[in-house]
Amino acid sequence: MRHETIETTLPVSPRWQEYVVPQHWAHFTAEDHAVWDLLFARQVELLGSRVVSPFLAGIDLLRLSHPGVPELAELNAILEPRTGWRTVAVPGLVPDAVFFAMLAKRVFPVGNFIRRRDQLDYLEAPDCFHDLFGHIPMLAHDDFAAMVEHVGRLGQAAIAAGAGDKVARIYWHSVEFGLALEDKELKILGAGLASSFGEAHFSLESREVERLPFSVERAMGTPYRHDAFQPRYLLSRSLDETIAEVLALTPERLLAL
Ligand SMILES: [Fe+2]
Repeated sequence: MRHETIETTLPVSPRWQEYVVPQHWAHFTAEDHAVWDLLFARQVELLGSRVVSPFLAGIDLLRLSHPGVPELAELNAILEPRTGWRTVAVPGLVPDAVFFAMLAKRVFPVGNFIRRRDQLDYLEAPDCFHDLFGHIPMLAHDDFAAMVEHVGRLGQAAIAAGAGDKVARIYWHSVEFGLALEDKELKILGAGLASSFGEAHFSLESREVERLPFSVERAMGTPYRHDAFQPRYLLSRSLDETIAEVLALTPERLLAL
């Protein structure tokens, strides 16, 4: 998911299971599947090798190149034995507290819909192409999978202490819009970039944005945009270093920072 921060006056149920709906895969039309195929082919070509290598390995491992919108049960049959992560369908955005509770259980919410052909580059809410193509490949990577679960636990602790924004920013600047060096080359790490036609190259090539070294302290102190391209990206010196840094962050230290 992308826009995790939802302002609501409604009480948020602590039970994430209440937000899960059937994927109803059989309800996807031939046009829906054709849109997936178009998005997939376009994005794979666009990314080439400009994304961290575990992402490309995950695409292959999870057989995401198989034509049509993936069926979550089939995807889970590969993903869950590998890293313990599984996907569930949701009808749209879920509140932060629910989202982090899901991550803490190695459950990733996936929109049960796909954008229309006339909206290829515009999304009001993250659809299954963003969620599946953008996020799931990296959840097949053992250490990244552990990091995202840890972010979920940190998020739960932070929300309980009224500091959910701190973890939302860590998530945003790594899992969603992070960049990373790999063999000294600048690569895309975040799902929001990997799944975006416009922002993928922009994040790597624009001379008008800042690319600042990632640290959890900097991430927590760096606001983000969810209605426009990012004015700055945080750059992991290496994927492993960022994973280790996030995993080392305890709820106590997070709240003290
Ligand atoms: Fe996302």
